[in-house]
Amino acid sequence: MKRLQNEVREIAGEKEQVTKDDLESMNYLKAMFKETLLLHPPTMLVPHESTQDLKMNGYDISARTLVFVNVWAIHRDPNIWVKPGMFYPERFMHSSIDFKGMDFELIPFGGGRRICAGLSFAMDNNQLVLPNLMHKFNWMLPEGFNSKKFGIDRVSGLEGRVEKIAKQFDGMVEGILQEHIDDSLDTQADCDKHGEGEKMKDFMDVLLEAQRENSQEFFIDSVSIKAIILDMFVAGTDTSNTGLEWATSELLRHPKVLKQLQEEVRRITQGRVRVIEDDLEQMKYLKLKAVIKETLRLHPPVRC
Ligand code: HEM
Repeated sequence: MKRLQNEVREIAGEKEQVTKDDLESMNYLKAMFKETLLLHPPTMLVPHESTQDLKMNGYDISARTLVFVNVWAIHRDPNIWVKPGMFYPERFMHSSIDFKGMDFELIPFGGGRRICAGLSFAMDNNQLVLPNLMHKFNWMLPEGFNSKKFGIDRVSGLEGRVEKIAKQFDGMVEGILQEHIDDSLDTQADCDKHGEGEKMKDFMDVLLEAQRENSQEFFIDSVSIKAIILDMFVAGTDTSNTGLEWATSELLRHPKVLKQLQEEVRRITQGRVRVIEDDLEQMKYLKLKAVIKETLRLHPPVRC
């Protein structure tokens, strides 16, 4: 940081702002950005598709094969880089390696015909923001925070954010789990009392039942139950969201369909403010026939 700050302050001097012209001579800044993108490429796997049959390194690759270029692994390959994984901008100070797609050992923006279209824009922006902040401020970690002891995720704040969300989520699932445990005891006792057989089970009830029947081959504890639920949420959140976004976009493009759907919803909810789960059963148009199915047919959130 000191070396970068010295460079910035030397070149920008007393000026109010670091400008694009100043960047030209900021060689350490450029090296520092290359090093950051080497260690932390924002896109770790870049997908490309072969357009024709070809042979490469003895492998036959047929046309239309989807290949994921593992940028992360290339950027940390010990056969290419000295001290891979170490933050060492000096490695670029006397090197002609650049990220413009011609040097395949440094490809944070991809390469070939589909190289990132926003490369110059992204670099101009990034490279201007940082020296301006360096120019005006001295940066340091909070007192008592030992950067050697903590990884980059802790320093950048990412780990803290993930921990916070994980805690909130854990608390929520723990609550649902507890509700199910209490509920299953009460409801089963009620059903037994009134001779009503078994109560309707949901997924968590089934997992709890498996826990009660724990065997040596299939061990499931409360932590495993929460992990399974979390897994399902994560897998389902983005896909559901995408599906909804497509559905609303298609409805906006097709006012007649929107009207039909709206009539159905309003007829069934009869002035109620909210649609509840029981209403869905009656919404044949929404539920069974058109909108959702058609949206998922045209825009499957998981494409391959
Ligand atoms: C540090 C910032 C950025 C990084 C690391 C980055 C990285 C990438 C990568 C790896 C690809 C795939 C290239 C390939 O298939 O070989 C890509 C594609 C693309 N990027 Fe960026 N990108 C960044 C910023 C931007 C910005 C700011 C824009 C727009 C203003 C942008 C627009 C695009 C577009 C349009 C494509 C698709 C190009 C195509 O398929 O023809 N990117 N980017």
